[in-house]
Amino acid sequence: MLALPLSLPLENRQVVLIGAGPWLTRKLALFARTPAQLTVFTPIEPQIINAKADVHGRWPEAAELAGAALVVVAFEDRELAEKGAALARSAQALLNVVDFPDLGDVHIPAIIDRGPLSIGVATGGTAPVLARETRRRIETAIPPSEVHIAEFALALSGPLRTAIVNVDDRRRIWEDVLQSPAAELARTGKVIEAVELALAGIADRQPRQGVVHLVGAGPGDPELLTLKALRLLSEADVIVYDRLVGDAIMDLARRDSERLYVGKARSNHSVPQEQIHDLLVEQARLGKRVVRLKGGDPFVFGRGGEEVEALKAAGIDVHVTPGITAALGCAASAGVPLTHRDHAQSVTFVTGHSKDGDHTNPLMLDWSALSAPNHTLVIYMGVATAHEIASRLMRHGRLPDTPVLIIENGTRADERRTLANLGTLETTIATAAPKGPALLIIGEVASLYSPSVAGLVETAVKAHA
Ligand SMILES: C[S@@+](CC[C@H](N)C(=O)[O-])C[C@H]1O[C@@H](n2cnc3c(N)ncnc32)[C@H](O)[C@@H]1O
Repeated sequence: MLALPLSLPLENRQVVLIGAGPWLTRKLALFARTPAQLTVFTPIEPQIINAKADVHGRWPEAAELAGAALVVVAFEDRELAEKGAALARSAQALLNVVDFPDLGDVHIPAIIDRGPLSIGVATGGTAPVLARETRRRIETAIPPSEVHIAEFALALSGPLRTAIVNVDDRRRIWEDVLQSPAAELARTGKVIEAVELALAGIADRQPRQGVVHLVGAGPGDPELLTLKALRLLSEADVIVYDRLVGDAIMDLARRDSERLYVGKARSNHSVPQEQIHDLLVEQARLGKRVVRLKGGDPFVFGRGGEEVEALKAAGIDVHVTPGITAALGCAASAGVPLTHRDHAQSVTFVTGHSKDGDHTNPLMLDWSALSAPNHTLVIYMGVATAHEIASRLMRHGRLPDTPVLIIENGTRADERRTLANLGTLETTIATAAPKGPALLIIGEVASLYSPSVAGLVETAVKAHA
């Protein structure tokens, strides 16, 4: 973030504009929409007339700028802008200089004006065209009827502040009210009726019931979150998350949500599963909206099933929002289809980790079925047991040259892929030494892997020929 957008209350405060031509009239039109007392100095031609402003056809004295909430200097010519800026500096006023951001203290962002609600898009003065384009997109997403919602919120804020003293309670009530029929009524312009309806609802309200949402965060790339996951993250009071959820995703969550980390600590110990259950139950019983955020999908090797059972047993309302599981994310990112009419008619997701964590005895599985040709096997948590897995597959008929693609940190900026085969898997893994989460895609489809998509198409074409 290059600049911090702040907001400047302008009720009963003075804004001074010094400038000329369209640079000045554009800024004057902007400030005429605020409650500020406006004073304008136009030291060069042409003079301007504005009913809302006190206009002087000369340069100001420094004393006339002292005490202003903001001085705006708006000239096309840099020398004139420098002169205006020097005057403002001598009066120690907060200064904005249009088109010459280096001369001022603050930049005016691109603004979406919805009455009491104003949204600023700031680029630190570096890319005003980008700011304007972003504003255009936000303008279309926030309909003009939001003016009424903002008026409604303004009218409700005083009575609510008096009626509900506790800040957390008040925040929750706001969240409920803004989703309520009263808000819908406000959108139609019936702001007074909407405020009455909201206040009646608040007087009759029941204590909020806690809820837990198990939410899949996907394999890492934040753009792979579902819209629902994004909404739940933006509404959560508490987020309980673990190691597979990266900062890029946590950055999208509500800023003031409480964040409880239950992943592996430096000591390499995870919080025991039962303790996670207790934590989820405890937080929900406090009436909070809890998001249990998990890498990939909560129901694919994510212990989501156990958490749902524990929450249901405790009588807690629980919902599941799926995420893109690592196998799908990694396959897409590497350009490897998990099924393909010519190479694999089925796919199985397997964990390489036994329940008791014994790496030498990974899996009680039907290895002859898993070793069938034209079948794709995706192994989660299989790096430590890769050698065992490869030996069993070869013992049950898979050829040593069966390709294996190892994908580490799939879909993230530091994604790493290594192509091996069953015969060389152990040594390849020893050399590559993956440190991040990694999975193995085993089977004919892995031969379609090519570092570039063009390469992938070429291989696929050859396979068809
Ligand atoms: C406990 S499992 C969780 C799986 C998760 N619930 C899912 O649906 O993807 C953790 C394993 O998933 C795999 N995994 C998760 N994210 C990954 C990623 N970004 N790249 C590669 N493998 C990943 C690794 O095998 C890791 O050891």
